Amino acid sequence: MSTEDKHLNNGEPEIDPLTNDRYLGGHEYDGIRELDNKMPRWWLVLFYASIVFAAVYLVGYHITEWWPLQDEEYEMEMTAAKSAMPANPHASVDLDGLMPLTAENDLAAGEEIFNKICATCHGKFAEGLVGPNMTDMFWIHGDTTSNAIRVKDLYQVMLTGVIEKGMISYKDQLSPTEMQQVISYIFTLQGTNPPKPKAPEGHEYQVIG
Ligand code: HEC
Repeated sequence: MSTEDKHLNNGEPEIDPLTNDRYLGGHEYDGIRELDNKMPRWWLVLFYASIVFAAVYLVGYHITEWWPLQDEEYEMEMTAAKSAMPANPHASVDLDGLMPLTAENDLAAGEEIFNKICATCHGKFAEGLVGPNMTDMFWIHGDTTSNAIRVKDLYQVMLTGVIEKGMISYKDQLSPTEMQQVISYIFTLQGTNPPKPKAPEGHEYQVIG
């Protein structure tokens, strides 16, 4: 079937008097004829622009991979976010090398932290309450083979916490220095025999500090 324009006998295109559009040939059924309705310019512009866009998209995203696809973009953002996060400050601490601090200002800072955070569970004098007594040689956590309680043993408990017993981890709340300060303060309480001490818990160690 031809879709050529319908022409008058003199060769002029046949025009619909109502719309001024030309008639198309080859589309006539039961006397109904098709007009050559031109697509509006804006529609054509959009149509061709979408073809150009699709071509650029196909080449840019899928063939040359100039630009990342959604999944890659997600991965890149996650990696960037991870590297922007502050690293765990405790990760670089050499636990084995830690010694109790002795400077007065460190011990004062440690006492302040202890009173503010730890005393509610360990007692004002570290005599023990919910948490164990920390003024005696008995410790629940520690290295029984060495028979010594060191800074690193308390540090380890404070890092990991003992959640099921109610001792939380302080790794996000206290800096490495603050950890050392409060631990050093606790060491100074050794043998202070506070009133109403909690009964000994754990293993009795020979050396502390
Ligand atoms: C909410 C209560 C609570 C708070 C607050 C708390 N602790 Fe504890 N802590 C506990 C309990 C309970 C245990 C005993 C864990 C166990 O049985 O293993 C414990 C155990 C410990 C131990 C190990 C003692 C041992 O005998 O081995 C250390 C060290 C310690 N806490 C330090 C601290 C410090 C330092 C703070 C403050 C920064 C603190 N805790 C705050 C409840 C608490």
